[in-house]
Amino acid sequence: MEPIRSAEELFALKERLRGDPQRHLPCISLCDTGCRALGSAAVRDTFIAEIRKRGLSDKVRLQTTGCHGFCERGPVLVVRPQGIFYQRVAPEDVPEIIEKTVLNGETIERLCYRDPVSRKLCHKEEDVPFYRRQSKTVFRHNGMIDPQEIDDYLTLDGYEALAKALQSMTPDEVIEEVSRSGLRGRGGAGFPTGRKWRLCREAEGSPKYTVCNADEGDPGAFMDRGVCEGDPHAILEGMLIGAYAIGASEGYIYVRAEYPIAVKYLSRAIEQAEAYGLLGDSILGTDFSFHLKIKQGAGAFVCGEETALIASIEGHRGMPRPRPPFPAQSGLFGKPTNINNVETWANVPVIISRGADWFASIGTEKSTGTKIFALAGKVQNTGLVEVPMGATLREVVFEIGGGVPRRRTFKAAQMGGPSGGCVPEQYLDMPIDFDSVSAVGAIMGSGGMVVMDNTTCMVEVARYFTDFVQSESCGKCVPCRIGTRRLLETLTRITEGLGEDSDLALLREIGEAVQTASLCGLGKTAPNPTLSTLRHFWHEYEAHVRDKKCPAGVCKALTTFVIDAEKCTGCGLCLKGCPTEAITGELKVPHVIDQEKCIKCGSCRDVCNLGAVLVT
Ligand SMILES: Cc1cc2nc3c(=O)[nH]c(=O)nc-3n(C[C@H](O)[C@H](O)[C@H](O)COP(=O)(O)O)c2cc1C
Ligand code: SF4
Ligand code: SF4
Ligand code: SF4
Repeated sequence: MEPIRSAEELFALKERLRGDPQRHLPCISLCDTGCRALGSAAVRDTFIAEIRKRGLSDKVRLQTTGCHGFCERGPVLVVRPQGIFYQRVAPEDVPEIIEKTVLNGETIERLCYRDPVSRKLCHKEEDVPFYRRQSKTVFRHNGMIDPQEIDDYLTLDGYEALAKALQSMTPDEVIEEVSRSGLRGRGGAGFPTGRKWRLCREAEGSPKYTVCNADEGDPGAFMDRGVCEGDPHAILEGMLIGAYAIGASEGYIYVRAEYPIAVKYLSRAIEQAEAYGLLGDSILGTDFSFHLKIKQGAGAFVCGEETALIASIEGHRGMPRPRPPFPAQSGLFGKPTNINNVETWANVPVIISRGADWFASIGTEKSTGTKIFALAGKVQNTGLVEVPMGATLREVVFEIGGGVPRRRTFKAAQMGGPSGGCVPEQYLDMPIDFDSVSAVGAIMGSGGMVVMDNTTCMVEVARYFTDFVQSESCGKCVPCRIGTRRLLETLTRITEGLGEDSDLALLREIGEAVQTASLCGLGKTAPNPTLSTLRHFWHEYEAHVRDKKCPAGVCKALTTFVIDAEKCTGCGLCLKGCPTEAITGELKVPHVIDQEKCIKCGSCRDVCNLGAVLVT
C-alpha cells in the first residue's frame, strides 16, 4: 500500500479501484459476523472450496461482510449485481447457488424469503419488507463491503468526507456543519454533538483526545457491534473529522473484549488506514496528525459511563467520578477529551459529504437523522433495524418486525435497556424520537428494543433489569449500591407472592431516592424499569400483591395452568410436550393438568393452537 499524500491522490486511487475489473465480477456478499451464530463460517468455507474447485477464482468474488441486519433469517447472503437475497443458507446449498444464481442468473426459490403476511416470495433484498421500510444512513455500507478491506470502503465514498473537511473547511466550519445537522449523541443522553465538540475545542490543554465509546453494555443491544464489524472505517473517518474539528491529535476506541470480531476488524482498519497514511502524521499532506489506539474493556456495564471509561483507559478500575470537571475540560490523563458513541461517529462522514441540510431533513425537528434499533423479543423479524427518527413504534414492530408471533398480542416495548423503560400499547403510534420516548418514561438510549407480548410479566421484567443493574453497580455510592439491592429484594418478594400493599409505595420511594442521589447515570437510571412499569402496569403489580396472581402466567408462585374443557378438542399436542407428564387425556377428549406434577413451564400454553390452556 503506497501512502496517499493528498486529496488528489486519494481521488486518483478511487478511480483506479473503481475501474478494476475484479470489482465488477459477480459477487456473493455473505454475512460473516452475526450469522456466524447460525453457521455462516461453514457456508463461507464451502464457498471458498467450491470456487477453487471450479476454477472460478477470477470470475466470482466472495465478499464476507458485516451484519445485514436480518439476523432472524441467517445465514443471509446477497448475490450481486442482481441483488438476489437468500436466507437460511446451508453449506449444502452452495454448489447450487454458484451454478444456478452466480453463473446463470437463476433464482433458487427455496432459499428466498417468503413474507408471512402477504405470502409473497421476495427474490431481491429490496422486496423484503424488513429491508424495504428501512432507511440506511449509518448502515449504508453494511453488507456492501468487506469490512477487512479498506479498498472496498474507498471504492464507495470512503474518506471523501475527510478529504473534503481537510481541503475545504476550517475546524470551525466542520463544527458548525455538525451543529446545523442537529446530530445528537446516539449513546444514550442525546446531547448535541456539535455543542460537545465546541466545548472541547475551546478547552485549554494539550494534547486533546477523542474517544469512541464502543462499550455497548446494554443487554440485547448490538448495533454498535454491527457498525464496528460491518463498517469500521466509517468510525475511523468520523473520528478523524472530529479530531480535526476539535484539535485533537490522539484518540482511543474503547471496545469490550467480548467483541473479538469487532476488535479484530477495528485493529485491521487502523493498520490499513495507517498504511495509506490516512492515520498518523501529516494526513493527506496537511499539517493535521492523528494517532488512534484500541483499548479493550473487560465488559462492565458501568465502563460505558464516560468518566469510568476514562479511568479504565488510564489503567484504573472503571469507576465513575463526579462531574464537573467534565471530560471536555479535564478528561483522559487530565486533558480535554471528547467522547462519542460508535453510531454518532459513523454519522459524521455522511453529514460532511452530503451536508447538514440533507441530514436535518431526515427525522424530526429536534431529533434528526436515523437511529438503529436492536429489535428483539416477541417479534417475528429480530435483528438490526435503521429507521428515520420519528418512525412510530407500530412501524418498527409491525411493519419491519412483522408483528408478534403465535397469534399473541403486543403488550409493550422495553426501550433503552436497563436505563430505559417500558412503552405500552397505547403509545404504538408515538413517533420515536429522543423527547417523545422520554416523555413516556423510557429512553431511546442506545437503541435496545425488546418487544413483549401478553405472556410477559411486567413485574418480572422490572425485576430482571434491576437484577442486572444491581450486579453491575460499581458500589462507589450508597444510594445505588444499597438502593438497587432493596429494589431488587422488593421486586423479588412480589414475584414470589410475598409482596404487600406497602411494597408498591416503597418501590416508588426507593426508586426516586436512587434516581436523585446516585452519583452516575447507572444509579440515576437504574429505577427506570421499575418506575415505568409501576406507571403503565400498575394493575399487574396490584394483581401480584393483592390478588396473589400473575396475570401473564410467568411468576411460578402465583400461577396455575388449567385446561378449559369447553375449548379443548383433545388434540394431544400439549400432552406430548409436557416435560413432567402432568397432562392426561384421551384423544378427542378434553385434557386435564395434574397440579401436583405441573412445574409451570408454560409449554402447554405455547403449543396449544386453540388457546385452551388458561392461567388462573
Ligand atoms: C452506566 C452507563 C453506561 C453507558 N454505556 C454506554 C455505552 O455502552 N456506549 C455509549 O456510547 N454510551 C454509553 N453511555 C453514555 C456515555 O457515558 C456517553 O454519554 C456517551 O458515550 C456519549 O456519546 P454520545 O454523545 O455520542 O452519545 C453510558 C452511560 C452510563 C451512565
Ligand atoms: S451510581 Fe452506582 S455505578 Fe454509579 S458511581 Fe454510584 S455506585 Fe457506582
Ligand atoms: S393442545 Fe390445547 S386443544 Fe390440544 S389437548 Fe392440549 S389443551 Fe387441548
Ligand atoms: S405448565 Fe409445563 S409442566 Fe405444567 S402442565 Fe403445562 S407443560 Fe406440563
